[in-house]
Amino acid sequence: MICLGIETSCDETACGVVRDGREVLSNVVRSQAALHAPYGGIVPEIASRAHVEDILRVLRTALAEAGVTPAAIDVLAVTNRPGLIGSLIVGLMAAKALAFAWRKPLHAVDHLHAHIVAAALGTGQLRVPSVGLVVSGGHTSLLAVHDALTVRPLGGTTDDAAGEAFDKVAQILGLGYPGGPAIAAAARDGNPAAVPFARSLLGSRSLDFSFSGLKTAARYAVLGQQGRPPAAPVAAADVAASFQMAVVDTLVEKCARALDATGWTSLIVGGGVAANRVLRERLEALAAARGIALAVARPEFCTDNAAMVAALGCMLAAAGRPCADLTVDAAPDSRMP
Ligand code: KG4
Ligand code: ZN
Repeated sequence: MICLGIETSCDETACGVVRDGREVLSNVVRSQAALHAPYGGIVPEIASRAHVEDILRVLRTALAEAGVTPAAIDVLAVTNRPGLIGSLIVGLMAAKALAFAWRKPLHAVDHLHAHIVAAALGTGQLRVPSVGLVVSGGHTSLLAVHDALTVRPLGGTTDDAAGEAFDKVAQILGLGYPGGPAIAAAARDGNPAAVPFARSLLGSRSLDFSFSGLKTAARYAVLGQQGRPPAAPVAAADVAASFQMAVVDTLVEKCARALDATGWTSLIVGGGVAANRVLRERLEALAAARGIALAVARPEFCTDNAAMVAALGCMLAAAGRPCADLTVDAAPDSRMP
């Protein structure tokens, strides 16, 4: 079973070819980060225009690198939700056109679900049931992964996504965009206890997240407030390390709560922020302390890519799930029941 996946939900134009849900034949990602860097975040209009310019080149490269012709492709999969609507539409229209022209079945998939399936790339295995955490620039979601094809929401962010907070704090510190890797690099020389940022846990049982207060606290620590500079200037490395630790502590605590609430003994983690080394180490420590299974996507499959979309397409096709027809639409929100 060979699936061509297409992903354009945010600021990566990506096409990938995957065999049997596990073997990555190609994974081509054209990042628009340089285009958005001057603005410190993604500009939706620029993103959708760049997708239009890049999609065919990325597609041809993905087929060439995989060494497959259209005839060898069994099924297509495309992210149609959630994401920036103008960006989603570019990938969806490309996928519909190819499905029509090549007479191939098409599966329209949820981006968060694909981030979970990314953990199966290489092995083809997802241990279920499992708590899922997708932590990225647009999403911070705890999920109940009942089986590889049945994923339901447990909790999500009430304001900013964790990656968005990384990007904004990097902007405040003048570290550039995307902020996650920049903060992680700066944090290596910093003291994570230097700035006592509060951990916003939203009560003792909540599985939801809030990162906007942390973002504001970082702004005050760096720039001061009410026109006054901070009482004592703090080194950028210390702010970065303290901020990163506050985010990691929060994410790990919420995973622990979701494991307690479900009683499950497996955790699957994906999304761009899951590439963060400190988060990965802390999740490994959590799993070791509890004796549970942990599957974190490989770093190159954490940030947005189409191999994860193709892997999910393989799984849906292998399970005989109904295909999308050519009237399928894009949606800015996740439509999990
Ligand atoms: O999954 P992704 O590529 O796109 C979305 O679906 O949003 O995630 C991108 C996010 C950005 O906010 C970026 O700053 C963050 O992931 N990120 C990281 C790291 N690498 C990427 N955050 C923390 N540490 C990293 N090493
Ligand atoms: Zn993503």
